[in-house]
Amino acid sequence: MNHQQHIVFFTGAGMSVESGIPTYRGTGGVWKQYNYREYACQEAFERDPEKVWNFHDQRRRKIADCRPNRGHEIIARTEKLFSRVTVITQNIDGLHQRAGSTKVTELHGSIWRLYCQPTGRLIENFELPLKNRRCHAKYYWRPDIVWFGDPLREETIAEAVTAMENCDLFISIGTSAVVYPAARLPLIAMENGARTIEINPEETPLSSKYQEIYRQPASKALTEIFPEIRF
Ligand code: APR
Repeated sequence: MNHQQHIVFFTGAGMSVESGIPTYRGTGGVWKQYNYREYACQEAFERDPEKVWNFHDQRRRKIADCRPNRGHEIIARTEKLFSRVTVITQNIDGLHQRAGSTKVTELHGSIWRLYCQPTGRLIENFELPLKNRRCHAKYYWRPDIVWFGDPLREETIAEAVTAMENCDLFISIGTSAVVYPAARLPLIAMENGARTIEINPEETPLSSKYQEIYRQPASKALTEIFPEIRF
């Protein structure tokens, strides 16, 4: 494989399944168990912030108990082999960074950041559970996550679009490609002539547009695509 190329990894919840974190819409998915209207939207947060925090504290605990899987590790290792590697993720779990990836754009935010809407303060926090749910101005911290109905940050979208426009190899891993605007991004890479690969055990609405398909779990497919990366 040409090591001068710019690779973009575009990842979704399926990337973290092998680490023990459930997807959102698959069997046992988070939104199959919990109604996002009660646990993961601005209205729910205003209505009952304690309930929303109980749910997110539980998710933080679960994610903290998990480790990056072989797929995350292979992606992190590609940075040593290829001139440019960018990770654009919909995941809020921070596992790409824990595996060693240094250029990660988090489209939907991070469960490890807190945001105080009235004061605009943004901090990183890894407490399990979160000790103080209120910032010093007594407002509730909000998880810095893009919930349903929230806009993505403009600078984050701009960063992702630039990466899509300039990549040579685009690899989509573990996303159902049904949530917008994220699901529009692969089309930009396709429109700009990148070589495109989809990794997903199941078909998605975008599958027919990819040049290559791996109907396999992330780690297995990435091991095949990057045989030179050994552990
Ligand atoms: N390897 C690769 N893909 C997998 C694996 C695996 N081991 N296991 C499951 N998948 C695939 C499923 O087939 C499914 O298509 O991962 C996909 C997960 O889809 P979703 O649960 O819809 O997750 P995602 O696409 O990341 O959701 C997008 O929706 O809920 C919001 O903000 C949330 O970021 C999230 C967004």
